[in-house]
Amino acid sequence: MAQEVRGVIAPGKDEAVRIETIVVPDPGPGEAVVRVQACGVCHTDLHYQQGGINDDFPFLLGHEAAGVVESVGDGVTDVEPGDFVILNWRAVCGTCRACLRGRPWYCFDTHNATQKMTLTDGTELSPALGIGAFAEKTLVAAGQCTKVDPAVAPQVAGLLGCGVMAGIGAAINTGNVGRGDTVAVIGCGGVGDAAVTGAHLAGAAKIIAVDIDDRKLEKARTMGATHTVNSRTTDPVEAIRELTGGFGADVVIEAVGRPETYQQAFYARDLAGTVVLVGVPTPEMKLELPLLDVFGRGGSLKSSWYGDCLPSRDFPMLIDLHLQGRLDLEAFVTETIQLDEVEKAFKRMHQGDVLRSVVVL
Ligand code: APR
Ligand code: ZN
Ligand code: ZN
Repeated sequence: MAQEVRGVIAPGKDEAVRIETIVVPDPGPGEAVVRVQACGVCHTDLHYQQGGINDDFPFLLGHEAAGVVESVGDGVTDVEPGDFVILNWRAVCGTCRACLRGRPWYCFDTHNATQKMTLTDGTELSPALGIGAFAEKTLVAAGQCTKVDPAVAPQVAGLLGCGVMAGIGAAINTGNVGRGDTVAVIGCGGVGDAAVTGAHLAGAAKIIAVDIDDRKLEKARTMGATHTVNSRTTDPVEAIRELTGGFGADVVIEAVGRPETYQQAFYARDLAGTVVLVGVPTPEMKLELPLLDVFGRGGSLKSSWYGDCLPSRDFPMLIDLHLQGRLDLEAFVTETIQLDEVEKAFKRMHQGDVLRSVVVL
């Protein structure tokens, strides 16, 4: 039987978010209902609220979550009621060209639940990134549930569902950072700090954190940065070159999403180095580069989507590292909040006060 739960919706462009009663249907074939235990507040939720992604209002926000599977529909075999899971926004099909070529992070046919969650008057909701987890329960495709060790705290586990995975994956999957590499991370918010953490985990010799805010640089040091550069006062390209014997970094990770930082990343890499772009630009932004500089520099330029992660491979591995004390995920949780505090959390995010506010249910 369909159930009624509380959830946070974005009713219309730039309108304040509010709590509504959400109708969650029973899981159909291939679907699961998850009792949400924690869900982080991510920039993408704010972008939905501002109408920056599409105008399929009302949105049911929240997509960085962990919880317990409550019920599953026909044909679901990978998870069962009672499993502790992290939700992912890219349940891959396994059969498209990208999947068959071993690049499932580019899957053309990712799955979400087929049925819709609604308001009590029948209005259909668009769940953020196909998840919608600022709610006591949510309906997803079973493939969006990745089982992990239940010994981990839900507010920590949920973070891997988006921002922290994007950053760690940018370093270890897309950038393929290896032992002894020099790494620079431009922009040290939640995603950049996760990239610093990933580089540290991978055994980078030097990790140079770049930001315009000294508070962020201090935090990045606690995550494993060995050097910091405030790019408001110091040219970051020069500084990175100087710190790498004049060569530039083996891997430069851009985690801001602006033309000037894309440009800095382009020039701050070693000639054989890799630039990883994880910051998301807006449609009107452009990058202008002398062609001779493009031609004259080797290495590679890659964008990283969701940290090029494979949830079933990466989530359990990172949770295990965390439980062994080798990966501090708690450091990303600035505060835990209630469902009705999401609007306030957006404001704090805007002011740069938090890495992550996490709704705990
Ligand atoms: N140079 C260096 N750092 C900058 C600059 C700049 N010109 N402008 C902003 N920053 C820093 C901010 O001070 C902040 O520390 O970039 C960081 C951005 O962090 P957040 O706002 O917390 O954003 P985050 O959640 O980390 O996401 C960063 O990655 O996945 C994408 O959509 C996401 O584009 C966004 C980016
Ligand atoms: Zn997100
Ligand atoms: Zn596929």
